Amino acid sequence: MSDKVVVVSGHNYVDTSIRIADELHADFLDVKYKRFPDGEIYVKIEEPSIIRGSIAVVVSTMYPDQNDSLVETLFLLNAVKRYNPQKIILCIPYLAYARQDKEFLPGEAVSGEVVINILSSTSIDALVVVDIHAPHLLDSFKGYTANVLISDLLVEEGLKTMSNPIILAPDKGAIGRARYAAEKHGLEYDYLEKHRDRITGEITIKPKNLSVKNRDVIIVDDIISTGGTIAKAAEMVLGQGARKVYVAASHALLINDALAKIRRSGAKLILTANTLARRIDDELIRYVDISSRLADTIESLLH
Ligand code: R5P
Repeated sequence: MSDKVVVVSGHNYVDTSIRIADELHADFLDVKYKRFPDGEIYVKIEEPSIIRGSIAVVVSTMYPDQNDSLVETLFLLNAVKRYNPQKIILCIPYLAYARQDKEFLPGEAVSGEVVINILSSTSIDALVVVDIHAPHLLDSFKGYTANVLISDLLVEEGLKTMSNPIILAPDKGAIGRARYAAEKHGLEYDYLEKHRDRITGEITIKPKNLSVKNRDVIIVDDIISTGGTIAKAAEMVLGQGARKVYVAASHALLINDALAKIRRSGAKLILTANTLARRIDDELIRYVDISSRLADTIESLLH
């Protein structure tokens, strides 16, 4: 007999969590979520006794409201643990703070390390994340970890309307994502040369002698935050004669005027996934549902 699986979700990520639960043929447990008048968070799992002896999967994501989401996730883990599941798997598609993965300037906190250590202290058995900015952060997690790459799925969607494509990473650090998608689809890939000023945040992308002339280009990155990186990269390759530029990013935060910036850059499409608890309806953005890939990863951790 197979083990019973139950899924519990963060309050702002219910749609994707239900899809994952359906794929896993798991019970989806309702959670009552509220805020006290002073702003504190309260969670209560309905019918918690179903958790006993099961494999419990907590699904939650950390954008928007990174800090509150972290606290809510910790509360959900506490509530789940009280009912003695045989195993707890935490799936956080977007793990916030992962860009601060080291002390870039003297005196900085290594926030990504703090988040991983907090999650590790809950003694969960496995942690599943999607395309974490700095995979090495997962090394200090005490249980099993899986970093699910999805650049191939985003590129697959883009390829439907591209010809003679090449995949580019906006900097050397992102080359792994570009390579992953390129190898899955048998495409060429390369990277651009980016520099970010750690104090002003200003980005410069140096031209590189790439053969993009008359080719369709897909720029693959993990996060679009202010849109500066992607907009500059798109402008640069269009300036070098690319015919059409698409952007594929696992986590499209798109803060402030990021969308307008990317539109102005000439990029024709932003391909992203449902890793966040926010969806922006705009003709420039296309969302790819990754719940079945997440379910496959979780499934592989069940036994
Ligand atoms: C940084 O190295 C990341 O991989 C992304 O390129 C970066 O976070 C994007 O930020 P923004 O959209 O603000 O340029």
